[in-house]
Amino acid sequence: MNQTIETILNHKSVRAFKNISLNETQIEQLVEAGQAASTASYQQSYSIIGVTDPIIKGKIAKYAGNQPFIEDSGHLLIFCADLYRNKLMSEELDIDIEKTIQGVDATIVGAVDASLAAQNVVIAAESLGMGVCYIGGVRDGIIEISDLLELPDYVYPVFGLAVGYPSEENDKKPRIPFEGIYHENKYKLDKMDVIKQYNKDTKTYYSLRSGELSDRAWAKTAVSSLNRLPRTFIKDFLNKRGLSKH
Ligand SMILES: Cc1cc2nc3c(=O)[nH]c(=O)nc-3n(C[C@H](O)[C@H](O)[C@H](O)COP(=O)(O)O)c2cc1C
Repeated sequence: MNQTIETILNHKSVRAFKNISLNETQIEQLVEAGQAASTASYQQSYSIIGVTDPIIKGKIAKYAGNQPFIEDSGHLLIFCADLYRNKLMSEELDIDIEKTIQGVDATIVGAVDASLAAQNVVIAAESLGMGVCYIGGVRDGIIEISDLLELPDYVYPVFGLAVGYPSEENDKKPRIPFEGIYHENKYKLDKMDVIKQYNKDTKTYYSLRSGELSDRAWAKTAVSSLNRLPRTFIKDFLNKRGLSKH
């Protein structure tokens, strides 16, 4: 095991931060680490918005599903899929890319590019002793937050990332065992025994975390979130912003 893998395996989301803002050098270092990630066809179809204005930060915390800990983070980054930059460059080059950037695949490309950059930022931040929490709740307020950040057409927020020095740390959440996640050569449908056993095992994690015998287990959390967050307004929003039309 080397230091990099150790950092990755030690990951746990942080939702309580010390009152320490990141400085410009730290922010630049994290963004540079993000930018080192691969991007589809060298498109770099993403942008990162750092939120330093406490009023904007507070509004985002509210729009993103009322998560006040976001306000306490040392820095808030909003990762956006960004097809707009390449749209502008296509006009310079007199090449029509409208059909491509209006398709679902371009929406996926932007989300993937943003995600890969974000995960690099996460690893860099954690390697420096900081903690992070992704904020998918940003998509609860995708309309309000896009307006607030004055995002142009062909740009949408994929998620936020709250970064800072932890004031409290959670325990590491156990993951699905290797054999439950990894399929060799083709998708295997017979993994439910492993998954069910894992689900039972997570009760121990929740019991230890709460300090009392808990019936809570992983599947309930995962499935409930899928039940709770259909975000049916997103398709319409993306279409209005020129994205995911076909
Ligand atoms: C795309 C994405 C969105 C997330 N959104 C939120 C969020 O809005 N609020 C939150 O508290 N945690 C959020 N999380 C953190 C997850 O809840 C967390 O990663 C998961 O429970 C596993 O815990 P761990 O990161 O501590 O291992 C998000 C994670 C990801 C990857």
